[in-house]
Amino acid sequence: MRVLHVCSELFPLLKTGGLADVTGALPGALARQGADVRVLLPGFPAIRAGLPEEGEVAQVDTPFGPARLVYSHLADSGAGVYVIDAPHFYDRPGNPYQDDAQQPYGDNHLRFALLGWIAAELASGLDPFWRPEVVHGHDWHAGLTPAYLAARGRPARSVLTVHNLAYQGVFPPHTYGDLALPWDFFGVEGVEFHGQVSFLKAGLYYADHITTVSPTYAREIATAEQGCGLDGLLRDRAADLSGVLNGVDEAVWSPATDPLIAASYTADKPAGKQKCKQALQEALGLATDSEGPLFAVVSRITEQKGLHLILDTLDEIVARGGQFVLLGSGDPDKESAFVARAAANPQQIAVRIGYDENKSHRVMAGADVIMVPSRFEPCGLTQLYGLKYGALPLVRRVGGLADTVTDVALENLADDTATGFVFTDFTAADLTRAIRRAFALWAKPQTWKAVRRSAMRKDFGWHAAAEDYYSLYQQLLAD
Ligand code: ADP
Ligand code: GLC
Repeated sequence: MRVLHVCSELFPLLKTGGLADVTGALPGALARQGADVRVLLPGFPAIRAGLPEEGEVAQVDTPFGPARLVYSHLADSGAGVYVIDAPHFYDRPGNPYQDDAQQPYGDNHLRFALLGWIAAELASGLDPFWRPEVVHGHDWHAGLTPAYLAARGRPARSVLTVHNLAYQGVFPPHTYGDLALPWDFFGVEGVEFHGQVSFLKAGLYYADHITTVSPTYAREIATAEQGCGLDGLLRDRAADLSGVLNGVDEAVWSPATDPLIAASYTADKPAGKQKCKQALQEALGLATDSEGPLFAVVSRITEQKGLHLILDTLDEIVARGGQFVLLGSGDPDKESAFVARAAANPQQIAVRIGYDENKSHRVMAGADVIMVPSRFEPCGLTQLYGLKYGALPLVRRVGGLADTVTDVALENLADDTATGFVFTDFTAADLTRAIRRAFALWAKPQTWKAVRRSAMRKDFGWHAAAEDYYSLYQQLLAD
């Protein structure tokens, strides 16, 4: 079974969020199921630098100008990778979507139309030695892929995975003429979204199957509340929509083998975790004699993540003797609010603004609690990393967070299923109640350790998701 994944980020080469963790791990996991997987990526500088060109597949004339398709492969899984060499679109430093002023590039519709176009070319035989039977795109960046396939009579089956419905790739109507799609695709039954061009809607409309990254989010996006205006279409397509929970790449995220942390540890031999906590406190200048739990956040700082609720509850954490660490970047106002709180109380609060992969491992290993109070969360990976590293997740009951964390309610403690703290209302008051439950559990060290052991023993390896995707591809190919 030949499967082409189409995406714009891939760990460890280029990452702005969880999407890269998924596209970095899934090809290898699918290969272990027996699929013949390749990946198609735009030739951003970090991608080209990390994937040395091994050969040229083709020179292509496209409606968006000439491009070269080159071939390489991933170091870990050995999966083949096609990289689109189109310097006029992709050879720009920094973030793949925005310029230095955080403005989307003015030609994003063309940059990502090219990605979808080349995917459709590959499905039509651009590489005479390898032609995908299934083309699996990720997020709006790959949204036009199913539309181009539909315009060519569907030479391959198509899947679109929604990692985040809030990012839609919407462009003004005049851009439609640049996309080389049939005119009759520009309608409510097609690419149009309230008079605009929507890459995500194109994907949702034309894909043979839609997946999203957790079962609960798959249900939520079919409601008006969380459907971002696309819930009607998603309800129409309910028979072709499913949720497949993301996994954890255990080669990257495992406290037993992680070379980035101060000491290794496991569920059964957790002693090293205390060393990791102390190393983190020292590195961040926090008091090392603190007896309280250390709460942490590793996150993009955006509206989605609900971090203003944490600002409102920091005093509670500190007053009860806890410490707090934030590693994140995003909204400048919230960044400075967190920085000010750390400056006022440097023994108990540490804030590091920026994106730092290595530090993120040390925070997970050193933290007792990882907080994810999101407004919405398609899957969420940091709570999964928290489970593995024995940093009990404190999360809102939404999306993938609801699917992966079990609250320390008495009945769950009784059956040894509790793994964290779950609150429901998107309010500081409800978050505070969860924080208080964390302190109540901390006061019972034996119970805390038992919950931590259950958390660390949870299996969120990629094999389960890979099996689900594999059988989905089989079904699509049998239809
Ligand atoms: P999202 O994709 O919505 O940002 P996820 O929880 O799925 O949320 O994935 C976030 C990924 O980005 C995780 O791998 C997390 O560790 C990482 N991450 C987020 N912020 C930072 C940061 N400031 N430094 C390092 N890694 C970060
Ligand atoms: C998105 C979502 C996040 C999810 C990630 C990977 O960025 O916000 O919840 O875990 O994609 O699927």
